[in-house]
Amino acid sequence: MSLSSRSSRGPRLALLTSGGDAPGMNAALRGAARVGASLGLELFGVEEGYVGLLDGRVRPLDLHAVDEAARRGGTVLGSARSRVFPTAEGQRRARETLAAHAIDALVVIGGNGSLAGARTLSDVVAVAGLPASIDNDLACTSMSIGVDTALNTIVEACDRIADTASAHRRTFFIEVMGRDCGYLAMTSAIASGADAVLVPEAGRDDVTLVEGVARAMEAAYARDSGKRRVLVVKAEGVKLDAATLKTRIDARVAGTLPDVDTRVTVLGHVVRGGTPTAFDRLLGARLANAAVRALVEGQRSFMAGWVGPGVTRTASPYDPYVVLTPLDEVLDETARLMRGESDIARWRRKIVEEIEPILAR
Ligand code: F6P
Repeated sequence: MSLSSRSSRGPRLALLTSGGDAPGMNAALRGAARVGASLGLELFGVEEGYVGLLDGRVRPLDLHAVDEAARRGGTVLGSARSRVFPTAEGQRRARETLAAHAIDALVVIGGNGSLAGARTLSDVVAVAGLPASIDNDLACTSMSIGVDTALNTIVEACDRIADTASAHRRTFFIEVMGRDCGYLAMTSAIASGADAVLVPEAGRDDVTLVEGVARAMEAAYARDSGKRRVLVVKAEGVKLDAATLKTRIDARVAGTLPDVDTRVTVLGHVVRGGTPTAFDRLLGARLANAAVRALVEGQRSFMAGWVGPGVTRTASPYDPYVVLTPLDEVLDETARLMRGESDIARWRRKIVEEIEPILAR
């Protein structure tokens, strides 16, 4: 089977970026555009995700602009989170736009919500999802586009903070993005040589959390009289906010560490911007390549994922590092991951226990 066309000029492929932007989205757009063009597809770009789709903002893709953007962060098409798209009215308008532009296939680059949106359109167009979210909270891919860049940004920030922390013998609480997922916090804590990490997967109450950090600080300074700094990386998904954490820790260690000063840095959206790493550019390009080829050969509703642990599908014929998973399976497995029921979720919980003593050594 191959992609059929509803226009007289050959199959039409539209590209759309949606949800929180992620560095590497532009590289994925470029990959999809270049491969699509080489396979004879007519290419279109949807502006600002599903919001633009509802408004009929679908334009012929400017290949030159996409080429230029490929080494930059953000997304040249713009992105948005639409509240109307999931409603009956939103679905009707989206279908109207796709029909009006005779679109045959759609590549959606985004996270869980964006791919769920893509699945709703798979009865009218062939859809391919490319996982893009700095949170790394999607199943059926070992890495999502943007994670590597975000991680590098966090580690660089931690290194800078470590310099100033060492100058003052301070403890810093550094909060990093990740929504409900502790992946960025855990990996950046390891890579930056932090002394403790707080992730939602550990499921600790506030009292346990504060006591754990206080003890980690006391142990770190007691073990090493020359200890100049303590870094605690906190995931955004840990609901105790960083300022309150500091206040409660200050009160708790006032008697035991009277000379130690604490500070808070919330990295926020700094983590989401910036030049994509080579890995993220390649990841975007390779996932896009395999996805577009699969669409052209007639596949209709899938996500292209990066192969790694927990991914059991066989490799795609286009790239041995890429698998194509039906969107139904991706979204069911992601729901299990978010409920903490999948193997990867169990493993992430277990690794928290294993990593803590290693960080504290
Ligand atoms: O999903 C990506 C992400 O950056 C999360 O880490 C964060 O919780 C959220 O988006 C922030 O969203 P917004 O940019 O809408 O504030």
